[in-house]
Amino acid sequence: MKGQIEMKQELFFGNWLSAATDEKLEIHEQSWLLAEDGKIKSLGKEKPQVAESVRVHNFGDKLLIPPFSDLHLHAVQAMNCGLGLDLTLLDWLKTYTYPEESRFADPAYAEAVFRRVIHELWKFGSLNSIIFSSLHKEATLLLMKLLQEAGLRAYVGKVNMDRLSPDYLHESAEESLAATREWLEESRAYGALVKPIITPRFAPSCTDQLLEGLGLIVEDYDLPLQSHLNETPEEVALVHELFPRAQNYLEVYEHFGLLPRGKTVMAHCIYNSREEEAFLLEKQITIAHCPSSNMNIASGISRIRDYMKEGFLIGLGSDISGGESLSMQQVIKDALKSSALLSRKRKLTVPPLSLNEIFYLATRGGRAFFPESGGFEEGLSCDFLVIDDEVDKLPRQFSLEERLHRFLYYASPDEITTRVLAAVILPEPQL
Ligand code: GUN
Ligand code: FE
Repeated sequence: MKGQIEMKQELFFGNWLSAATDEKLEIHEQSWLLAEDGKIKSLGKEKPQVAESVRVHNFGDKLLIPPFSDLHLHAVQAMNCGLGLDLTLLDWLKTYTYPEESRFADPAYAEAVFRRVIHELWKFGSLNSIIFSSLHKEATLLLMKLLQEAGLRAYVGKVNMDRLSPDYLHESAEESLAATREWLEESRAYGALVKPIITPRFAPSCTDQLLEGLGLIVEDYDLPLQSHLNETPEEVALVHELFPRAQNYLEVYEHFGLLPRGKTVMAHCIYNSREEEAFLLEKQITIAHCPSSNMNIASGISRIRDYMKEGFLIGLGSDISGGESLSMQQVIKDALKSSALLSRKRKLTVPPLSLNEIFYLATRGGRAFFPESGGFEEGLSCDFLVIDDEVDKLPRQFSLEERLHRFLYYASPDEITTRVLAAVILPEPQL
């Protein structure tokens, strides 16, 4: 038609499963999804009428699910996965984490590790992620560049920390703020899929001067923010000691303008006071629930299901290397197990997280950060994972819902055979 701009269309066929809400699994069996310019146009049983030239991807009887969003991970801790998990947070940081993060002054080391992390995010289907780098500006820029090249969607933060760390992993407040502004200017090149996020490590790692400066940067650049909150009782006690005037931990961040509404993600949030809970809700802060990490380093069990029902924004985080794996299937299993134990501890007065609730957390929990991903409604980015569970080889039949259970709770990540972002099949990233 005259004047009409040509759209790039693609057709995909298979069994589509998504968490429409935390209570409803949506299933489109043997259905057609039409994508236009990388976005979902329609999904239904009828094959849309399209030109002969439109590419058709037929995934037959395979399961097609939204990609996972990993809302909290430390890319620079990947080589520590599985190490030191018999310690608790503050000792673990000193003994394992800070020495490892100091290695990221070396760009060659950084590149080797980041390539592995990116390969795993791809392999495990975490096409959306929110990532801590180290305090090193160059390493952080490199991580952003490599993510962009791999076609993954991510927020990445240069860590800020100017106290309570060893000399070999330390920056002054001035250095930290100057490096952060430089990093923000230089990271503009990676804008479309990979975005910067302000990242004070956690309140105890930062002086008032640093937090104040970061608050100004958040305002100047209108940026999102990530940090840690209420992960262990010892950490909470340390915050009270270091910030005696603050009523609670969250207020420290609030005081310095570090809680941009709807654009803040806080990892853990286990030991929240009533006041903090009200404030988390009011500020629309996303909670990154990290069950693997919380169990490994004995941090505690978060009342995630209560929070979901009370309207908090919550998603899942692997938190490597507090968590031992980047596999979201692992994190999903740990979310189930820790909520089941909490349910038992409360004499079954509250149920554990249901399958669909956890599926919702893993795919839509990051909606404040990745509103374009996580489902199959018209207008969303055409993002999905193809799961080949080979059920036709098994001696009995399973419903589509049962197949999803098996994939999430039982199967090997190798069942993920294809990853699609904005209607493009992502090639395997180079190691
Ligand atoms: N709190 C401050 N730094 C860290 C970290 O690296 N990992 C975890 N789990 N908690 C933290
Ligand atoms: Fe963490």
